[in-house]
Amino acid sequence: MKIGIIGVGNIGTTLAQRLPRAGHDVLVANSRGPETIEADVTSAGARAVTAQEAATEVDVLILSIPLARIPDLAPVVAAADERTVVIDTSNYYPARDGQIEALDDGQVESEWVVEQLGRSIVKAWNAVLADTLAAAGSGDAGRIAIPVAGDDERASAVARQLVEETGLDAVDAGSLSESWRQQPGSPVYCTSLTAEQIPSALAAAQKDRLPRRRDLAIDVITNKVDDPSATVDAAFLTQLNRLLYR
Ligand SMILES: NC(=O)c1ccc[n+]([C@@H]2O[C@H](COP(=O)([O-])OP(=O)(O)OC[C@H]3O[C@@H](n4cnc5c(N)ncnc54)[C@H](OP(=O)(O)O)[C@@H]3O)[C@@H](O)[C@H]2O)c1
Repeated sequence: MKIGIIGVGNIGTTLAQRLPRAGHDVLVANSRGPETIEADVTSAGARAVTAQEAATEVDVLILSIPLARIPDLAPVVAAADERTVVIDTSNYYPARDGQIEALDDGQVESEWVVEQLGRSIVKAWNAVLADTLAAAGSGDAGRIAIPVAGDDERASAVARQLVEETGLDAVDAGSLSESWRQQPGSPVYCTSLTAEQIPSALAAAQKDRLPRRRDLAIDVITNKVDDPSATVDAAFLTQLNRLLYR
């Protein structure tokens, strides 16, 4: 498949390294232009382009940018072919994104993203840490799974295939209206569960508890980061999330 990725931070870079190795033709873009994209992003064969080029004539367009920046991409996404599958990895973190009233009032994050873009998306790779994704498929540990939510079965199936090709199991989590079950603070959120564990974890999510749990995790992480002797790595974050979210 021909795949555009807009956003080459922690998650976008990991996808840009994994997807070419699975045989895909991958284009990558950020907000500042192709000349600013670092060599490690393109080391597996992805090509650096503008955001407009990453969205043009591609089978799949992956958006991997801070949620508050999603509205900036509306014109770019509007120019994409209507058959292009748009996948979004974003999560709402008020400490990073600023307060967004509709989300603070409980709107499902992916439904807000759909409103901003004016077209449907699939929600995938939002519930895995970038370092966990980078290591996925290696070692003897059981395969880690993530939920994939969407309203269009063809688009969701494409996203699940790509998730599997990045070394993770993909679990169909249903429609976008139910995708709050995989938002920050939920039992499946960056807790490295298996495909067998995900359905009951999705079912156990409690919508009104998510924001408080998300913010508790951020408080702990912020305090840890202030301590120079502390190690805040994927293992620590996964343990923390399991403690707070399940
Ligand atoms: N970090 C994780 O482990 C993780 C895990 C799962 C999901 N997520 C979610 O995935 C999204 C990306 O996270 P991240 O940690 O990878 O972010 P990040 O490291 O901060 O990188 C953000 C990327 O988005 C680009 N960008 C921002 N605004 C843009 C715009 N208007 N047009 C084009 N590109 C733009 C930035 O490019 P410039 O530098 O050129 O602005 C940068 O390449 C977030 O919503 C996050 O919550 C993150």
